[in-house]
Amino acid sequence: MTDKRTFIRSVGAYLPARVVSNEELAKTVDTSDEWIQQRTGIRQRHVAAEGELTSDLGAAAAKRAMDNAGIEIADIDLVICATTTPDLTFPATAAVIQQKLGMHHGAAFDLQAVCSGFVYGVATADSFLKNGLGTRALVIGAETTSRILDWNDRTTCVLFGDGAGAAVIELAKPGEDRGILATALRADGHFWNKLYTDGGPSSTQSLGHVRMEGREVFRHAVGMITDVVDKVLAESGYTIADLDWFVPHQANRRIIDGAGDKLGLDPAKVVVTVDRHANTSAASVPLALSAAVADGRIKRGDLVMIEAMGGGFTWGASLIRW
Ligand code: ACO
Repeated sequence: MTDKRTFIRSVGAYLPARVVSNEELAKTVDTSDEWIQQRTGIRQRHVAAEGELTSDLGAAAAKRAMDNAGIEIADIDLVICATTTPDLTFPATAAVIQQKLGMHHGAAFDLQAVCSGFVYGVATADSFLKNGLGTRALVIGAETTSRILDWNDRTTCVLFGDGAGAAVIELAKPGEDRGILATALRADGHFWNKLYTDGGPSSTQSLGHVRMEGREVFRHAVGMITDVVDKVLAESGYTIADLDWFVPHQANRRIIDGAGDKLGLDPAKVVVTVDRHANTSAASVPLALSAAVADGRIKRGDLVMIEAMGGGFTWGASLIRW
């Protein structure tokens, strides 16, 4: 253990220009705006343009996060990109982003924890920096999930969207009051086949498409989320009533509401973007954080809980003094 602490200095977001409404989807898949909204709360999603890559989205979000912090790429020591949709099987999309940002120094790697990727990434950067491997990290969640969807499968293609969010994480000076206070990460690979792609480099030498047992994911999600949130609160000595903002992974409005109810959260403290962004996997939490910072809800000094759950299953939460 160390008494060092890191804090989130800034966040940034990037969403592709093209917006696809439920009505537009219903022209090509057997679904309806009413079904999607009722079951998920999703109204629309953003979809990357042809030739627009995960690294483009990630680099744009990272640039905005650095602009919001008033820093330059020379100030960054580490780039972590959480993604399930890398530009290529290798090299890491983080390395491509590094190149697009004009960065020759430092370290860069991808992190694969599907929808929990950003929460895992924040925890990884927190550990790296506290262990002396640098002063400042870019943690990016970036996805072009549209590229791994089966657009004929109505049970999955209506749920996801593309986008990227990024955070600048910095080692705090002694006495700094803000910071990442506690984190819990979990995984249980026995559930891998509840949410997966039916292909990949080693198994099929192809990409595969998203496959999911939606009801099974739903059944486990609320319990897993509340488990890590409770753990983080207990470890840091806070209660759910102390939270100013709860920023959950944006998979489904019913999962968000179910977790909020079980935790006894005031719904007014929950940041929701799933209606506009759909599920952007690793990008969903930093996109939601960016939205709430940009509109003035999350302010310096606020107590903010982020959480996510996704394929693996993986899940995790972090409590942050903003
Ligand atoms: N449009 C219209 N009808 C549909 C659609 C659609 N897009 N998709 C499924 N249906 C139909 C089914 O075929 C089924 O029809 P049937 O009764 O004639 O067989 C009916 O709707 C009900 O299907 P269910 O799968 O039982 O519907 P459910 O109420 O469980 O909702 C959903 C499905 C929204 C996927 C839900 O299970 C869910 O939210 N699961 C969580 C999964 C999730 O959010 N995954 C995201 C990734 S994981 C993560 O990020 C945490």
